[in-house]
Amino acid sequence: MADMEDIRKAFADELSSSETFAGLQQLKVKYLGKKGVLTSRLRLLSTIPAEERPAYGKLINDLKILIESALEEKEAGLKKTERDRNFALEALDVTLPGKYAVPGRSHPLSRVLKEITDIFVNMGFDVEVGPEVELDYYNFEALNIPRDHPARDMQDTFYITDDVIMRTQTSPVQVRTMEKRKPPLKIISPGKVYRCDADVTHSPMFHQVEGLMVDTDISFSDLKGVLEIFVHRMFSKDTPVRFRPSFFPFTEPSAEIDIGCILCGGSGCRVCKGSGWLEVLGAGMVHPRVFEMAGYDSELYTGFAFGLGVERITMLKYAIDDIRLFYENDTRFLRQF
Ligand code: DAH
Repeated sequence: MADMEDIRKAFADELSSSETFAGLQQLKVKYLGKKGVLTSRLRLLSTIPAEERPAYGKLINDLKILIESALEEKEAGLKKTERDRNFALEALDVTLPGKYAVPGRSHPLSRVLKEITDIFVNMGFDVEVGPEVELDYYNFEALNIPRDHPARDMQDTFYITDDVIMRTQTSPVQVRTMEKRKPPLKIISPGKVYRCDADVTHSPMFHQVEGLMVDTDISFSDLKGVLEIFVHRMFSKDTPVRFRPSFFPFTEPSAEIDIGCILCGGSGCRVCKGSGWLEVLGAGMVHPRVFEMAGYDSELYTGFAFGLGVERITMLKYAIDDIRLFYENDTRFLRQF
């Protein structure tokens, strides 16, 4: 029986130096397991005199209960320590200032270009594209622009060789499309164009959208209808539209299309220079010579064409007064759209 006290002490020593779950498990096996210290003592009960058995049995049982509860207590302590440590590791300081990524957004020109494209695509127009480095032939010759036309001036056109230029307009895509497709035809062609010109409203690179519709009986009223729908969808459905006679070498008759000034409502302001109107598009009925040069029968087909500047439309729509803002990539400007 004296042995019991030694066992208790030995257990207490081992327990106090055991700081892991595995260590506790080993102790449990050592003292309470099938071949454990206490179990073997219980087996010895049958070898001692019957009258001593109850007292000895009780001692063993008491020690067993004590060991069980000490193990449990220590295990609970270990669990708590572990949990506290994990909480500390995962602790989140909700008062720290956040780090957030500034989300990107589309450039105002991309947005407006998409709006323009969507309006025409919804009216059944296909999108065609052409090269920015273009032959003089497509940019000028085939559009009925003669050799001495001012648009070919060295001041205006970027020449690469005598015959190769940076296109000054998207109109060459009209010709390229007619060469590869037969009428009926309804296309727009968005893209970059280049002119040697730079101030608050001119940039050496800017964007245009060309339009072309060809069939056997297209009239000026089709042109008016399509462009009025465009203006009403692009600006607002009660924006006034005005067609003014004009001149382009590749259309006859030609027109410039104005809209009622969206800034002053037509009463006259700095932006519309007091006139109440803003020019937004050039257009006209395709010149028979343009058809002939593209290989279309000008007796059989008629069509209209138009061209607009994306920067200009965007500047009017958002009242932006300096074209250079589009290309500086100043996020204070870009964030506003
Ligand atoms: N290409 C002309 C320009 O850059 C715009 C234009 C006017 C295009 C009339 C056309 C048109 O197709 O019919 O100024």
